[in-house]
Amino acid sequence: MAIIVNEQKNQFYLHTQSTSYVFENTNGLLTHNYWGKRVEDIPSINELYPLSGINLAVADISGSVHRSTDTILLEYPTHGSCDLRTPAFHAVYSDGSPITKLTFKDYKIYNKKLSPEGLPATYTNEGDICQTLEVELFDELKQVSVFLYYCVFEEKDIITRFVKVKNNSSEKFTIKSFMSFCADFPHMNYDMINLNGAWAREAHIERKPLFVGMQEVDSKRGASGPNHSPFIALVDNDATEDSGDAFGLCLVYSGNWFGGADVDRHFRPRLMMGLNPFNFEWQMNPGDELFAPEVIMSYSSNGIGLMSRQFHNIIRKNLCRGSFRDTERYVLINNWEATYMNFTEDKLLEIADAASELGVDMFVLDDGWFGKRNTDRCSLGDWYVNTEKLPSGLDGLGKKINDKGLKFGLWFEPEMISPDSDLYRAHPDWCLHTEGRNRSESRYQLTLDLTRKDVCDYIISVLTKTLSENPIAYVKWDMNRHFSEAGSALLAAENQREVAHRYMLGLYSILERVTTAFPNVLFESCSSGGGRFDAGMLHYMPQTWSSDDSDAVERLYIQEGLSIVYPFSTMGAHVSAIPNHQIGRNTPIKLRGLVALPGQFGFELDLSKMSDEDKAASKELIKAYKQYGEVFHRGEYFKLASIFKGQNTAWEFVSEDKNTVIVMLYNIQGKVAVPDKILKLKGLQPNAKYQNIATGNIYGGDTLMNLGVFQNCNHDQTCDMLVFRKV
Ligand code: DGJ
Repeated sequence: MAIIVNEQKNQFYLHTQSTSYVFENTNGLLTHNYWGKRVEDIPSINELYPLSGINLAVADISGSVHRSTDTILLEYPTHGSCDLRTPAFHAVYSDGSPITKLTFKDYKIYNKKLSPEGLPATYTNEGDICQTLEVELFDELKQVSVFLYYCVFEEKDIITRFVKVKNNSSEKFTIKSFMSFCADFPHMNYDMINLNGAWAREAHIERKPLFVGMQEVDSKRGASGPNHSPFIALVDNDATEDSGDAFGLCLVYSGNWFGGADVDRHFRPRLMMGLNPFNFEWQMNPGDELFAPEVIMSYSSNGIGLMSRQFHNIIRKNLCRGSFRDTERYVLINNWEATYMNFTEDKLLEIADAASELGVDMFVLDDGWFGKRNTDRCSLGDWYVNTEKLPSGLDGLGKKINDKGLKFGLWFEPEMISPDSDLYRAHPDWCLHTEGRNRSESRYQLTLDLTRKDVCDYIISVLTKTLSENPIAYVKWDMNRHFSEAGSALLAAENQREVAHRYMLGLYSILERVTTAFPNVLFESCSSGGGRFDAGMLHYMPQTWSSDDSDAVERLYIQEGLSIVYPFSTMGAHVSAIPNHQIGRNTPIKLRGLVALPGQFGFELDLSKMSDEDKAASKELIKAYKQYGEVFHRGEYFKLASIFKGQNTAWEFVSEDKNTVIVMLYNIQGKVAVPDKILKLKGLQPNAKYQNIATGNIYGGDTLMNLGVFQNCNHDQTCDMLVFRKV
């Protein structure tokens, strides 16, 4: 049983195969006892963390001056009584009171996975074992219930959490802060890991020791953002890829989010993740319910690598959905960096011809096919084809592409509107805006107001029409402008701070409708690259364009960073032209190819201008991708060396059936007279024999894991792909 309730000790045990999460009902107060390696029995909170010497707490529990809620480890703290740390839930009531006092009321165990309504979440497949614990906490005075949900994926070593609040009273109140996850840790000997970045520099790994005070990452941009990925981990100060405790949280949400650790005066971190309280309020009328998004929790006692693999497994199989989840997807050619918006039908067909010769599966027409879109100054919202550029229309072009043996894919930016568009002229109030304020443009565009049903319906109808009338097999769903002056014309003053979350609920409802209606269309999300690379979007679209930086060296950082949480099957990765359009670097085709290969592979350059040598190399890459795509996408990933620590890096993939092992070696900066780097492989069977398919040499699994393979680092921008097969 994954969920065990010890009635004598009033304790709740959430067990997975290797981990346990334990909390306790201590006289109505929910305390946090433990999260870590599996244990069967945990002392009561008073015995576990005696607090002698800790005082100056503002009040006490049950007569003991030392037992204040301010000094005890809590599970879901609120504001207003004696815990003076940052709360997980904060509300203001109609009498002006900001106090919520929650006490344990009841619990239920469900032998199935529950999910937050209207939000993306993990789910179970046939055969998966998952139990859900629902704990109801209640504020007697305000008649407010807070339901904590814990979903235990026992065999996957994953627990997820989400929260629901319900107003049972006859008066309304306002939520100010609403976390999905909160737990107090007993000590601060941890580093925090975040994925930080910017446009075209997404997901760079940052690791730093905790300090006393609040350390946080968030988004206030209306999208999860490139600044920080909605992920946070605490790891032992000396944790490595393969050793030490690692506690990871990944939020299944794409809007304004918050993740942080507030280390208190007794050096104890409160780890939290949920909706960003900044600029957030939610009006709760009598009977209303609100959900905080799901957090995926991955704990490993064997280092950061296992934490990542657990995330990969659940994201791949229990978060991403649809017919493309488990299949190898299309090798695509995207015309963006080949032509930008300056194309004719003939030019596109010329690229398609070259693509077809190479064995590419799909041609994707990017931005510039609609309205008067010859520059980025206009036409977003006018989703009718520009027949001056494409005289045969989308249907005609799609068929011509299909006749060349290629599928046809199309770019959209459905959430946007250009001020210079017929849509804007007809509906100037359809964008997010605030009366009296400037409508600031970014890339000459504004964001549609998805808090409005009429706007959501319009987007659904446009997409439904275009996808039904044309032979479209793939959609690249772009979103290039985050929020500013984010008000809505239809919402009352008191609801204006709900805009960011209401937008996400609108977007998720559109995605649910459209992706369900077109199950055979592959959707890839994008927000100027990885500006909305998160588990929420991955629920609807199983892959994301990882970055607008297509340079191979830069991509090593971005893809390694993303791989801490997200599997390679979710990362769009293309071979682009040199000199690279973003940073001007020249890299060999082999490096560009092998960096893109483990992701969702494609090309982003004018294939008709490719040299014969590069064409031959590209054919080989496509062949390798067709052969080994499933190892990259469904196998286990091990990081052998980190690009963040030096000039060489190596990624290893072990196939699901454990029979194929691929080692990708990359060296970005050559050094003269340095010895070869030794890379010890991981995850092999020590007694099995593995043959290098290029050389025919056979090695024991133990040899590969203890002696390792060698990487020559004498030359700049070199790379290799070693394939071993079990014999
Ligand atoms: C941003 C995307 O990241 C690019 O790949 C491209 O689709 C442009 N938008 C088109 O405007």
